[in-house]
Amino acid sequence: MLTKSPTAEHTFYIIDFDSTFTKVEALDVLGEISLIGRPDRDDVLDQIKAITDRGMSGEISFTESLDLRLNLLKAHRDHLPALIETLMGKISDSFQRNKQFLSENADHIYIVSNGFKEFIVPIVTSLGVRAENVFANTFVYDETGAIVGFDAENPLSANGGKSQVIRNLNLDGEVYVIGDGYTDYEIRASGLANRFYAFTENVLRPRVVEKADHVAPSLDEFLYHNHLNRSQSYPKSRIKVLLLENVHPVALQLFEQEGFNVEIRKGALDEDELIEAIRDVSILGIRSKTTVTRRVLEHANKLMSIGAFCIGTNQIDLTACTERGIAVFNAPYSNTRSVVELAIGEIIMLIRNIVPKSNSMHKGVWDKSAKNSFEVRGKKLGLVGYGNIGTQLSVVAEALGMEVYFYDAVDKLALGNARKCKTLDELLAIADIISLHTDGRKENKNLISYREFALMKNGVIFLNLSRGHIVDIPALVDAIERGKVAGAGVDVFPQEPKTNNEEFINALRNLPNVILTPHIGGSTEEAQENIGNFVPGKLLEYINNGSTYGSVNFPELQLPLLKNSHRLLHIHANVPGILAKMNNIFAKYHINIHGQYLKTNEQIGYVITDVAKEYADEVVEELKGIDQTIKFRLLY
Ligand SMILES: NC(=O)c1ccc[n+]([C@@H]2O[C@H](COP(=O)([O-])OP(=O)(O)OC[C@H]3O[C@@H](n4cnc5c(N)ncnc54)[C@H](O)[C@@H]3O)[C@@H](O)[C@H]2O)c1
Repeated sequence: MLTKSPTAEHTFYIIDFDSTFTKVEALDVLGEISLIGRPDRDDVLDQIKAITDRGMSGEISFTESLDLRLNLLKAHRDHLPALIETLMGKISDSFQRNKQFLSENADHIYIVSNGFKEFIVPIVTSLGVRAENVFANTFVYDETGAIVGFDAENPLSANGGKSQVIRNLNLDGEVYVIGDGYTDYEIRASGLANRFYAFTENVLRPRVVEKADHVAPSLDEFLYHNHLNRSQSYPKSRIKVLLLENVHPVALQLFEQEGFNVEIRKGALDEDELIEAIRDVSILGIRSKTTVTRRVLEHANKLMSIGAFCIGTNQIDLTACTERGIAVFNAPYSNTRSVVELAIGEIIMLIRNIVPKSNSMHKGVWDKSAKNSFEVRGKKLGLVGYGNIGTQLSVVAEALGMEVYFYDAVDKLALGNARKCKTLDELLAIADIISLHTDGRKENKNLISYREFALMKNGVIFLNLSRGHIVDIPALVDAIERGKVAGAGVDVFPQEPKTNNEEFINALRNLPNVILTPHIGGSTEEAQENIGNFVPGKLLEYINNGSTYGSVNFPELQLPLLKNSHRLLHIHANVPGILAKMNNIFAKYHINIHGQYLKTNEQIGYVITDVAKEYADEVVEELKGIDQTIKFRLLY
């Protein structure tokens, strides 16, 4: 652990059990076990919950609510082992993570609960809490072992019991209470505690939160707030994630599962709105309509990473992000398969001449003939660009019996039986069907124009599902009108409407055997879900582990999982000598380095150093102080 041992010899921690130490209310779980096989089980469980609520709201006394619940439970001593086993699996995640804190401070930790010792003691002692520091009720059994009541002498079976127990403990020092219920707050209200932390990891009760000195979404937050030893360098609940533009709900779920504080907004934000929203955000998720400018980034004081839930990242000022040490990730192949399937579908529709036939049918014309309708089997498919999409299409097309040829600007491995063409001209001359899958770099403007159409076979089928400016539209219109191109599928255009309300204006409208689609090659539910999974995966790897594999602006490093070390992540301007300066600091403090990784790009250097856990806080300060440091982060 990095920070020094707990501040106060004289601080005592009073911790609640149900819904705090564990995720659940133990008596509810006991009911689920003891009522197994009863036809009215669900009804009785509902009644038990309702009584719990009536007790909590003060409608009935706590003693009465306990009495009523035990009567309904019909529980037996024999049910307790199963209850304890279930509760063992329901210990709150942040307690599980921080068992070192619990065992190291066992002298100062008390569990004070209106639950029962019979199940509380085995659970809390498993994480190092002392049995003698557990204050709770005890069951009363009849001669058969059935649970028939509770020890009514115990103050915890009545209202105000917790305060009475704490008073009797006569603790000499600061007292902090952590709990989710009103009875926990009452300890503070009666002047017996210095602070009350509303624990909201499992349940959030507004009435309790309102009264709290501090809200602790996890035990990590409590420990962080008090500068105590903890398992996370920075509580995840403090990491704010802002997701814009309706990204897939799976992304929200993934970030929430991780314990982050997530805010979602449906639409895009303009520059001023984003400046306002981004101030305390650590992770920003956008799609293509939010522009992240240098001005926005100047206000993004906490921003560590941006996830583009799409393919393109033109909407983000990547240079400014890199200068500020903000890693950007996107989803380069989450929709590859969707584009490929649309291309295959269109190829079949076009080569069968289905579009004019379907249009005629809608006008009542029955034109049954095989003329100008062909199979795809045995036809030569020419792929221009053999990247993610080109290669995938190559594989699927071969499965349909097509002969695949490809041309790529760089040397690429041919998959399956695909054949490489040495030049674009060679490919254009050989193919029956030509499909474009190059990237959208500027030099590809009008890659296919009059000259290229002239090189193609007569009656070729032509597809562009890549980028609009790659095809010279007047040249394509001319080729279609002359019959050079027998069918075309076009999904992308040099000028595309910005919204669904804008008219689509293009010379390709109303030509025969032409399928026009509004840039939806990659737009499927599956692709959205893939993106929703993929981008958070990358962001979480970066936040939790430091890995930048797949980043569009950071030097890419795939790091091993962190084990028994602390990981120091240092991002700096790429100038000579930084690594040496870092290692001088490690040497000066005799730090044992377990592993070190360095990668640079033109703008920045990224150094990860895994070190033994014991070292002085000054090391961190000195590392942060190295000239040209952009960002420094610590993981453990
Ligand atoms: N219609 C849609 O909705 C949609 C969806 C996803 C991707 N796309 C577009 O599809 C295209 C391909 O995507 P990808 O993921 O396969 O990209 P990629 O970067 O994996 O592959 C592009 C390939 O094109 C090659 N290339 C570039 N210029 C070339 C040229 N002049 N001649 C020959 N080869 C050239 C590159 O070397 C690379 O291998 C991109 O333009 C992308 O923007 C469109």
